[in-house]
Amino acid sequence: MPLYKTINFNSTTQISVWKITESLEQLRQEVELNSANTIRFNGMKSEMHQRAFLSVRKLLMEKGYTDFDLEYDEFGKPHLKDGNYISISHSHQFSTIIISDKKAGIDIEMQREKILRIADKFVNNQELQRLKSFDNHDFIKKLTVKWGAKEAIFKIRNEKGISFKDHIQVNPFEIRDNKTTAILEIENTKQQFSIYFEEIEDFTLVYAFEK
Ligand SMILES: CC(C)(COP(=O)(O)OP(=O)(O)OC[C@H]1O[C@@H](n2cnc3c(N)ncnc32)[C@H](O)[C@@H]1OP(=O)(O)O)[C@@H](O)C(=O)NCCC(=O)NCCS
Repeated sequence: MPLYKTINFNSTTQISVWKITESLEQLRQEVELNSANTIRFNGMKSEMHQRAFLSVRKLLMEKGYTDFDLEYDEFGKPHLKDGNYISISHSHQFSTIIISDKKAGIDIEMQREKILRIADKFVNNQELQRLKSFDNHDFIKKLTVKWGAKEAIFKIRNEKGISFKDHIQVNPFEIRDNKTTAILEIENTKQQFSIYFEEIEDFTLVYAFEK
């Protein structure tokens, strides 16, 4: 399947999602990679990762960009050469990008029971207790939103030393709200973020902006 979904958040911010059903060969024929990314692509161990990597370039092409418009910094954070901000995420059969004139981060995550086992690694006790008052199904969905929100914020800040559990707090929300806020508190910095989320099949798409 080609483009799965486009969200026109506003005139300068768009989110797009690809559902990866194409073979590696088909994608490779359709996507031209720059030399740095050709080396990276050739070194990837998993075919799924290679297909995801190429599908992100298909999303870029939908927006009028190519791989030659993209560069990565030393931390692995992607940047567009025209000054717009980009963030990238992929998980299993989905990949997604956000392109904006404002700093933005994105994450797509499969909703899985496994998240229950690692919850205490990325949410603090206060957040966890609040969440536990809801039923188990929502619990997994909410934890997945929280995880995605923290990943998205991390992708905006791109800073060593950020602890998801100790430094980022996602404020209470209902799944039907499709949005919440979060706060990053690290050393002398206190920063607020707007968080938006939605379900895509059994995945959770989350994106964040600085407030
Ligand atoms: C870098 C990181 C955010 C990637 O997230 P992920 O869930 O593994 O993978 P995703 O598919 O969502 O995102 C991968 C994309 O993030 C982008 N990315 C990688 N490093 C990045 C960085 N430092 N800043 C911003 N974006 C980054 C890249 O575009 C990458 O895809 P690409 O290389 O194919 O273009 C993540 O591995 C990480 O380091 N998280 C923070 C560490 C942490 O504290 N984790 C757990 C706490 S309990």
